[in-house]
Amino acid sequence: MASSLQPRVDGDLRSLLDDVGLLHQAVDALGSPVNVVLPGRLAHNVRQFRDVYRDHHLSGEIYFAHKANRSHALVRELAATGAGIDVASLGELQHALGAGFGPERVMATGPKSREYLWLAARSAAIVNVDSLAELDALAAIVTAHDLPRVRVMARLSGFTSTGTNVMSRVSRFGIPAGGTAALWDALDRHRSRLDFLGVAYHLDTVGLPEKAAALEGCLQVLDEAVRRGLRPRAVDIGGGFGVSYLAEERQWEAWSTELTGAVLGRRPPVTWNGHGYGLRNEAGTIRGALSVYPAHRALAGAAYLDRLLRTESTAHRRALGTLVLDHLYDLYTEPGRALLDQCGATLLRVEQVHDEGRGDTLVRVAGNSSDIGVDQHGVQMDPLLISHGEPGPEGPAGVYLTGNLCLEADLITRRKVLLPRLPRPGDLLVFANTAGYLMDFSAGHALMQPSARTIAAFRSGGGWRWCLDERYWPVTGREESNG
Ligand SMILES: Cc1ncc(COP(=O)(O)O)c(C=O)c1O
Repeated sequence: MASSLQPRVDGDLRSLLDDVGLLHQAVDALGSPVNVVLPGRLAHNVRQFRDVYRDHHLSGEIYFAHKANRSHALVRELAATGAGIDVASLGELQHALGAGFGPERVMATGPKSREYLWLAARSAAIVNVDSLAELDALAAIVTAHDLPRVRVMARLSGFTSTGTNVMSRVSRFGIPAGGTAALWDALDRHRSRLDFLGVAYHLDTVGLPEKAAALEGCLQVLDEAVRRGLRPRAVDIGGGFGVSYLAEERQWEAWSTELTGAVLGRRPPVTWNGHGYGLRNEAGTIRGALSVYPAHRALAGAAYLDRLLRTESTAHRRALGTLVLDHLYDLYTEPGRALLDQCGATLLRVEQVHDEGRGDTLVRVAGNSSDIGVDQHGVQMDPLLISHGEPGPEGPAGVYLTGNLCLEADLITRRKVLLPRLPRPGDLLVFANTAGYLMDFSAGHALMQPSARTIAAFRSGGGWRWCLDERYWPVTGREESNG
């Protein structure tokens, strides 16, 4: 039997998932699947990021990357923390403004329509531009609609570093870091309409050296901007601080080794149809690259930010955080996944358990692979099993989880998951820690199947209560005292 991958569950999420009655009640009331979010935990995670800023004596703003979750409750609770928000569409911008964010705490990123640019400019959000064409389009809108001067950040990409051979991957977003002359010319032209705040990057990688090279590259570009007579005030290092999903590193290592063995045919498959997650067997040799999220990470979240800021610049032999401080730049971050660590879970009801004599046990759940994006986002972990009534006999069961679409490809995950016992119809399978991207990023209505309802859970009177996500506001369940 393959190794289990036990999820890391702690604090409030642990306590909530122990409230089995509440979980069954929510699924009974709303149908399966149900997403649960924990707004209180988001506030806790924001504090951890702030502590890192404080330890490095840095000022600036934490802009939560909204795209990681659509929940109203999370965004409204975030508004109450004083943190900022990174919105990546017109809809997200409207949502943030309606949730209580003043425009000074909003950063508009992502591909931008004219309508999105107009609302961002009209509401005085910071616009993080991806290209020179976007910069020109924004300036034209400001002129045509007689809007106040807009604060802009310029996103860069394609960094090379001095002293090492670290290069950042190719990105379709951002102005080439090595070709900023055209940027300075454009900012000169639009000086009366655009207020240049600084430069930004976002790299979709967990690699620290690549991020350190990008931050160092940004600092060099900011020096160049000063020489050109501009007065930059901030550097934005994007998101990608990451989450560690698994409780134990050794389980992750064991499973990765088992997958390699299975692809080579040296052991029974650990995935549906021998899927290799990027690995393949070429005449007895492993080829390709494992394309899954590193589900166990020794360094993630606020600790990753801390390590990045402590990393020495290759050119200056000083910590990058110290260089940011020396220049009196504000540090902007855009964490999505990391701020949602332990902020939610997805509940799926078991519909059917069967084995058609092919040797594989299939567990069909009321939900599908667009409701829970573990496989799409490459996150490997076992769900927790919460029985309905008396649990069946204990004993590990390796099973495949299938969804409610009549599509061959609709598996919740192609990995064979390990459960403590065989589930029964009516039991719940709970994927923990799904708030970052795994919960509702690609939820849809294929086959007219209902998509998950989201509820917000909060502590009240020593226990847990819940309400529909859209009904949650930061005053929910809290009584203000008069003195
Ligand atoms: C521009 C930008 N900022 C921030 C993020 C958030 O990244 P993460 O959730 O990995 O922190 C993303 C994610 O795609 C992004 O594109």
